[in-house]
Amino acid sequence: MLQFNPQDPFPLLHEGSYTYDEAKFHAAQVDDWLGIDTKTVEQKVILNQKYLNEKKQHPFMPEYWSGLSTPTLQTPYTEIRLILSHLNLQAGQTLVDLGSGFGRMGHVIGRHYQKVNFIGYEYVEERVQESQRCLSIHYYPNVKIEKTDLSANAFSLVSADYYFMYDFGSRKAIEKTLEDLRRIAKTRNITVIGRGRNSRDLIERQHPWLSQVHLPQHYTQYSIYYS
Ligand SMILES: C[S@@+](CC[C@H](N)C(=O)[O-])C[C@H]1O[C@@H](n2cnc3c(N)ncnc32)[C@H](O)[C@@H]1O
Repeated sequence: MLQFNPQDPFPLLHEGSYTYDEAKFHAAQVDDWLGIDTKTVEQKVILNQKYLNEKKQHPFMPEYWSGLSTPTLQTPYTEIRLILSHLNLQAGQTLVDLGSGFGRMGHVIGRHYQKVNFIGYEYVEERVQESQRCLSIHYYPNVKIEKTDLSANAFSLVSADYYFMYDFGSRKAIEKTLEDLRRIAKTRNITVIGRGRNSRDLIERQHPWLSQVHLPQHYTQYSIYYS
C-alpha cells in the first residue's frame, strides 16, 4: 500500500509496486500537504463563463479539462518522479511542461533536481495563480509557471531539452505544438514525454521524426520519444 510520508513526499518507486488508484490517492494527499487547493480553484474554473464560450467559439475547440476531477486532470507525483528518473537530466538543462495544470512537476523538480530549469505553461488563469502561490511558498528558484496559450499563433515555444506533453488542449492544439517542436528539433536534440491517448497517437501516426528515428521507450501511462 502506497503511504504518504512527508519526509519523502515524491518517492521513487518501481512501476507496478502500487496501483494507479493508490497513486492518485497518494497524490491528493501530497496536494493537500503542499497547500494546493484544487477543489476551490476547480469550482471557480467551472463557473468561469469565459472557458465555456471559448470552447464553443475558438477554431481549435480548446479542452481545459474543467469539470473533470483533478486526479484525472493531473499526473500522480509518483509517476512524475519515475518519468524524471528515466531522463538523463543534467545541470543547466530545461524541461517544459506543456499545460502544467497545478504545477505538480514543478514541485518534484524543485525538490529533487535543483539544477534543472523548469517552465510550466498553463492557460487557465485560476490554475496558474494557484500553482504560482504554492510554488512560491516552497521557494524553488529553478521553477516557473507562465500563463500562456500554447495554441496561439503568436506564441513562440522556448527551445528546451525536454518537453512533457499530457493531452493539453484539443487534437488541433496538440498538432500545432508538435509542429513547433518539429521546428525546434531541426536546431537541437529534444526528448518528448507523451502521456494520454491524443499525444501518443499523434506522435506515433504523424511525427516519424520523433517516433521512428530513435526507438521510443513505452510505459503503461506514457512514452518517451527522442528526436
Ligand atoms: C491533462 S492536464 C495536464 C496537467 C499536468 N501537465 C499534469 O500532467 O499533471 C492539461 C492542462 O493543459 C492546459 N491547457 C489546455 N489547453 C492549453 C493551451 N492552449 N495552452 C496552455 N495550457 C493549456 C489545461 O488547462 C490543463 O491544465
